[in-house]
Formats: sequence, structure tokens, C-alpha cells
Amino acid sequence: MSIAYYDKERLFKLDTGSSTYVIGIVDDEGFIGHAYYGPRIADHNIGYLMRTGEGPFVPSKNGRDRTSFLDTFPMEYPTHGVGDFRDDAISVRTVGGNSALQLRYVSHEIVQGKPSLPGLPATFGGDDVCSTLLLKCTDKDLKLDVILSYTAFEDTDAIARSVNVINSGSDDIYLTRVLSASVDMDNENYDLITLHGSWARERRINRRPLTTGFQGLNSVRGESSHQDHPFMAVLEHDANQDRGEVYGFSFVYSGNFLAECYVNQYDSVRIMMGINPIDFSWLLKAGEEFCAPEVVMVHSSEGLGGMTRSFHDLYRQHLIRSPYKDCKRPILINNWEATYFNFDTDKLIAIADQASKLGIEMLVMDDGWFGYREDDNTSLGDWIVNESKLKGGLKYLVDEVNKRGMKFGIWFEPEMISPDSDLYRAHPDWAIAIDGREPARSRNQYVLDLTRPDVVDYTYNQVSTILHSANIEYVKWDMNRQLTDIGSATLPAERMGEFFHRYMLGVYELQERLITEFPDLLLENCSGGGARFDPGMLYYSPQIWCSDDTDAIERLSIQEGTSLVYPLSTMGAHISDCPNHALGRTTPFRTRGYVALAGTFGYELDVTRIPEEDREMIPSQVEMYHKYNDIVRMGDYYRIASYHDNHEYDCYMVVTKDRSEALMTYIQVLNRINYHSRRNTASHMWMWRIRQRRAMIRTVHIQVRCS
Ligand code: GLA
Repeated sequence: MSIAYYDKERLFKLDTGSSTYVIGIVDDEGFIGHAYYGPRIADHNIGYLMRTGEGPFVPSKNGRDRTSFLDTFPMEYPTHGVGDFRDDAISVRTVGGNSALQLRYVSHEIVQGKPSLPGLPATFGGDDVCSTLLLKCTDKDLKLDVILSYTAFEDTDAIARSVNVINSGSDDIYLTRVLSASVDMDNENYDLITLHGSWARERRINRRPLTTGFQGLNSVRGESSHQDHPFMAVLEHDANQDRGEVYGFSFVYSGNFLAECYVNQYDSVRIMMGINPIDFSWLLKAGEEFCAPEVVMVHSSEGLGGMTRSFHDLYRQHLIRSPYKDCKRPILINNWEATYFNFDTDKLIAIADQASKLGIEMLVMDDGWFGYREDDNTSLGDWIVNESKLKGGLKYLVDEVNKRGMKFGIWFEPEMISPDSDLYRAHPDWAIAIDGREPARSRNQYVLDLTRPDVVDYTYNQVSTILHSANIEYVKWDMNRQLTDIGSATLPAERMGEFFHRYMLGVYELQERLITEFPDLLLENCSGGGARFDPGMLYYSPQIWCSDDTDAIERLSIQEGTSLVYPLSTMGAHISDCPNHALGRTTPFRTRGYVALAGTFGYELDVTRIPEEDREMIPSQVEMYHKYNDIVRMGDYYRIASYHDNHEYDCYMVVTKDRSEALMTYIQVLNRINYHSRRNTASHMWMWRIRQRRAMIRTVHIQVRCS
């Protein structure tokens, strides 16, 4: 059992493989405090770390000066409005218009395994690998119960946290803020790492010193977003890939989020993560409950590399459910950058003809096969095959592709509705809109109101009907705009603040139904590239299209930022044509292959039209994928050098779990004129370290490309 309760000391000790997290109950009043988070310790008697005896921050019994206690005590789940003036994790609005609450310990339960979260993506684990602490606390005046849930994993250094709020009283209560995790720590000269970007420039690593006041990031876009990412790491200033204390926080959610650090007057830091309180409120009627999604916390004493490997292991073993999780994915060719909307049955069969001979295993038909969609202005929502383009119908095309020994995949954007569509003409109220106000178009489309069960049902049936009509083995689920003009024809005014979260629950329900009815389907999520590359989506799909930027050199930085948290097996990466459609850069075909090998691997080009010498290289790239993908997919990841930092070269290594093989990939982006050759000391160091850990690497495959 990795969680223990020490009655005399009133402490809970949660142990993972190499980290410990300690929670304490203090005072007769039952305040729940945070005592310790860091390297694994044997001792549990560390309640003194909450420093309740240290004047002037005396316990709450001191009625004369309660706020000096409340404003300094390391709260496990801080509440609003009673004297803790740092930011809070939960606040409410009562029928009387008040917002304050205070939570005190009531009871606890420690169970083996991990209970699931209703309707939400979440990590999972059997009785043998994890146990869960359910800590019940209450505001006795409001009769609001809060259950703080902590799961400690023994096979990886992760603790998953979520929160359940129950209205046990008889009055309505609005929740105006329910974050999923809060950790109070002393600021040990920490840095903060966050991931930022833009469309086609996702997840660039940003590191800076943690400083006084608020800092962090959020999304109000209705998606985890291209711009900010639901991840944050707090680390020692001199921590690097290899050493130093690192705390990583990752939110298993795909909608609006908040990730925030607040460094206060006493140089302690409060780290918080959860659903963004902006545009959020949730009405809890008597007896109702609200479940907040989970945050995963990882502690590493082995620098960022240790944190990364823990997240990779956790997400591979305890989040992704797809049967493809542990399998090589079929090498696909996607026709988006090959044809855009300009394709028909003959064109796709011509691509399949060539591709199959070269060893490519699946053809994916992208946007433009339905309704009367010839460009991105129409037909979303009309998921009916355009037979003037696909002559003979979808089944004919799929059968022809199958006859060539290839699987077939298809693109959908199920959450959307074009104003120019039969669906919109029939059901204008199905689009998200505020009554009487024209909603903003983006890519000339609106978003379906997935808070409505009837719209969810309809959407699901449209997708399911197409999947039943032919042998379709893969779906690319796209989502190409952000949510604006939030309004729903069916949600009552007092529940409109629930819209964003209910929308996400609708998306999750759709994908859950899809993978339940089609358990062997390979689902790839996508959101204009990487706007929803998050752990929430990984619960449904084992891979996500990383970015619409397919330029190999840009991809080095995008994939480095992504792989800081996510396993390589989840990163959709393809070789595309040159000059690159987004950047205009030409990169050798071979280099493009090495870069795509760091992800799921595939092609996004017209194989019938690329230069002969490139086409001739494809069989060897296919062979390389089959040879190395097991290591890439399942191995331990080591970041050796960052092109993002040095602007010259990029290097990473993947090592098999049994330490018998390693694959090191080195990309020299530009030549260095008139320099001495460089001994790659970094990689020597890594190899040496692995040996130090009694690794006997028998084979090292090294790929080098100087462009
Ligand atoms: C998004 C995706 C692309 C492609 C287009 C089609 O931008 O990221 O890969 O599918 O939509 O419209």
C-alpha cells in the first residue's frame, strides 16, 4: 500500500517509486495542510514542516489573529474569503450572495486502485500499482462537502489529484471556482517552465525564474489551445535534463484551464491548476455533485529528463487505452498536403497504387469528401459522401484501397457546422450562439452546441453511419476553431456558466461512444494541428496530430516541447513535400524522414508527383520505421541537445527498457563554417550515465544528418 495514515500524528504519507507527498491535519478545527512534497523519505513524522508553532503564524485557536495563520499555513486546498489572501482553489456564490467558505477535515478512506471519474478522461491503475486517498472535508455552515482524491502510483513517480464537490445542504450553491490541485511550497530559487505557441508553432518551451506575484497561463478558447498548454513545471534554478528537483503538473483536460503560480510576501509559492474560473460557474442543487478533472503531479530528482520519463510511462501505461497503445501504427499517407480539396476517386487510387508498392500501409482521405465541400467554406455537418467526387461511393473507394493491401482512414470535423450546410438550414439553433447576436465565424464555420444531448446523438449517428458503410480503420477527428459567443438554445440562464465544461463533456461522450462501438478503430485527434494535444484527448486516442507545420526543422522544436510531457508514440509526425507548404523551406528528404521517425511516422504528400530520387528513398524509410519504431514507441527518452536553444543542432536518444539498445538521432541543421569538429560530449555523458546505472547497451543506432 503506497498510502498510509498515521493516527497519532494525523498525517497521510503518499509514496510513489521515488517521491513522497505528506498531508497533515492540524488543530482541533481540522485544517488540512500540506507538509511535504519531494524525494521519497522513510520518516513520516514531519508535521513540524507545517510550522504551526512558529510565531507569529500561530494556529487558528488564536482568535485575536486568525488571518496570520490562515494567510501563511500551507493549505492543502485553499478556500476563498476567510483570511487566506493568496489565491484560492475553491469559491462559491450562495443564495445570499456570499462567496466565503472554509473546509475542515471530516473523514478519510484509503482504497486500492483508482476509482474512475464520471464522464471525464483520467489515469487508471489496478490494485497492484496504485492506491487512492479520499479525504473528505466540509464547510459546516454551507453543508458543502469536498472530497479531495489522491492516487499514488508505485510504478512511476506520479500522483493524480481530483476533487468532488457535493451540496449536502438544502439551498442552491453556485461553484465559481473549483481547481483540481493546489500545492504550497517554499520558493527554493525556482524557475518556471511553461509551453506556449500559436497555430503551426505549438509548445515552445519557455523557462524563466519564478518571481513575486502571479504568473502562469490559461486558455479561454474552449480548447487546451495552440497558444498556452495545460502543463507547468517548477524546478530548481540549476536543474537541467539530468539533475535537480523538478515538479511537473499536467492537466488531464482539453478545455479552458488555469495553471498558475503565486509567490507571496514570505517567498512561498502556491502552485494551482484546474478549470479556468473565467466564464465558469456551476449550479449545485441540493444533493448534486460536481467532479473536477484531474491533475497529474510528477516529482523528479533527476532533472527534467526524470520528469519526462515519468510522464511518458504514466501516460503510456495508465492513460492511453487504445489497443494500438503498444503496437506499431500503420504507416499512413494522408492526402491533405497532396491534394487539399482537389481530389476524386481516381486521384486517391493513384496515390494508393504508388504508396502500396513503396510499403506504405494506410491511405487517409482528409477534408473534402462530404456534402458539396470544394473549399473550407461549406458543408460541415453534412456528413454525406459527395458522390460526384467519390464516383462509385465510399465503399468502392475503400475496397479498392484494401485490394491494394492498404487500410483506409477518413477525416471528420464532427463538432462543427457550416452556415452554408443543410444541417444549419434545418437546425440553426444547433450552433453555439447568443440569442439575437450574430456569432463570429472562424474559417467560415460555427461550432455545434454539444451541451445538448440531442446534438450529441445526432452527431454521433452521422459519424457512426459512415464508419459502418465501409471498412474504415482509422479516423482523424479534427476541430478547427475556437469557441466564441457562448450561448445555448437549451441551457437555462442560471446554467450558462456551465457551457464550456458541458461542451467538453459532450466531446468526451462522443469519443467514448466511438471507441466503444468501434474498439479496433485507430483514432487520431487533431485540432488545426495541435490545439488539443493534451492528456484529456489521449484518453480516447493514442495519437494526436502534432502541428500543421510539417517543416522538418520547425518540427524539431515543436516535437521537443511536446515530448517534454508526451510519449513519442503519441506525436503525429509526417514527411511532407518541399518546398514546405507553410514555410517554403527545402530540407533533404532523408532528414524529413529522421524527424518524422520521432513520432507516429507517415507521409503527407502526393507520392505520384514527388521527385523520383525522393520516392526511391521511401522503402528504406519504411524499413527504418519498422526497425526502430519499437524503441521509439516504448523506450526511455533522453533529450541531449536542443535546436530550440542552440539554433544549430538537435539530438535525442531513446533507450529500450532493458537497456540493451539505444537509438540516438542527431540532426545538424546548418553546417558550421570554419569550426573545429565537435566531440559530442553531451552524448558521451549520457551513454556513460546509462552504463553507470548498470546498463549494458549492446547496440547503439546513430542517425546523423547534416543538411
Ligand atoms: C486542419 C488539420 C489539417 C487538415 C485540415 C483540413 O487544419 O490540422 O491536417 O486536416 O484541417 O481542413
